[in-house]
Amino acid sequence: DELIADNGVRGRHVLVRSDLNVPLDGATVTDDGRVRASLPVITKLVEAGAKVIVMAHLGRPKGQVDAKYSIAPAAQRLNELADFDVMVAEDVVGESARKAAAELAEGSVLVLENVRFDARETSKVDAEREEFANELAALTGENGAYVNDAFGAVHRKHASVYDIASLLPSYQGDLVATEVKVLKTLTEAPKRPYVVVLGGSKVSDKLAVIDNLLGKADQLLIGGGMAFTFLKAQGYAIGGSLLEEDQIAVCQEYLKRAEQLGCEIIVPVDVVVAEKFGADAAHEILPADKIEEASFGSTGLGLDIGPKSAEQFASYITSANTVFWNGPMGVFEIPAFAEGTRTVAQALANSEAFSVVGGGDSAAAVRALGFSEEDFGHISTGGGASLEYLEGKTLPGVAALEG
Ligand code: 3PG
Repeated sequence: DELIADNGVRGRHVLVRSDLNVPLDGATVTDDGRVRASLPVITKLVEAGAKVIVMAHLGRPKGQVDAKYSIAPAAQRLNELADFDVMVAEDVVGESARKAAAELAEGSVLVLENVRFDARETSKVDAEREEFANELAALTGENGAYVNDAFGAVHRKHASVYDIASLLPSYQGDLVATEVKVLKTLTEAPKRPYVVVLGGSKVSDKLAVIDNLLGKADQLLIGGGMAFTFLKAQGYAIGGSLLEEDQIAVCQEYLKRAEQLGCEIIVPVDVVVAEKFGADAAHEILPADKIEEASFGSTGLGLDIGPKSAEQFASYITSANTVFWNGPMGVFEIPAFAEGTRTVAQALANSEAFSVVGGGDSAAAVRALGFSEEDFGHISTGGGASLEYLEGKTLPGVAALEG
């Protein structure tokens, strides 16, 4: 709005960094949440007569052109959702992109190929990223502007997220503004009880956020693959379940510190144990201290929290005034192991608490399980970005706009 009101954008090139990093099955977008979230700013600029150039990444192609990471399916989805036509360049800053950008008409949209096809995007060498940022900025001609709306990528110090902000008049997109505002409520003045639900496969991804939340949240509910390292830390035998051996001691330390700080860490009391990983695997519900006592033997793996744990998590959620949830409780893609995630999502959907669902996986999970966005206070488009915000870290993409 500031950009549109201040200077007017009619006829000007505006480079918009969006997060179009969506899950694909072949060339089909399986969850278009991020594409939908990117649409409002682009639409606003189109209606104001800008020449919009969208840049985004998809996956981690490691600086190589690789057809399976083409942005085309995401751009195609944007085209389907939009009331205007969306064109796609064949490269990032090459001939196709330069020509298409120069010929853009007012109110039209060009999506550049995956910015990570160019190794300079993610380079650790400042000069390399700056050179690439310069080439991106050059696509805007004389009087360009930059809008960062890629909340999911603001924790990356990459050329299209960070360096470019010092080259063009730069603005925060509405999605970034909304996300930051919501997360600020969580860090500054969460209404208590404040319950944090963490899941997903790795403890190591969540260490800093656990560390930061221990003194702030009233309860930390731990599910998903990461719960098994906590169970192991409490001395339980966990069969073939996911384990991060090197994090056991850290988990023990957290359990102790939580006690001192009056924050409860709640781990599952029961688990859905499967004979092997797979949709048709035999499975049983077992108490968390009897994982190795399944009828199929002692090497089964926990793929979901059990019904008692799910009910217990749900009751904490029901009495909370603020809830942050990141990471599924089990392998929700497989129906037999989706109940834990479904129960937690349902409790959140029913609750009056201010709720934030963060992370691509949890957001995809609630949509895949048939919940609607309106069931929750806010569904964040950022996984790593929202965690890093809650960890108290500076987000380079946000800081660059302020600096
Ligand atoms: C995400 O999926 O969290 C963002 O799009 C960032 O992607 P990245 O983790 O590959 O940088």
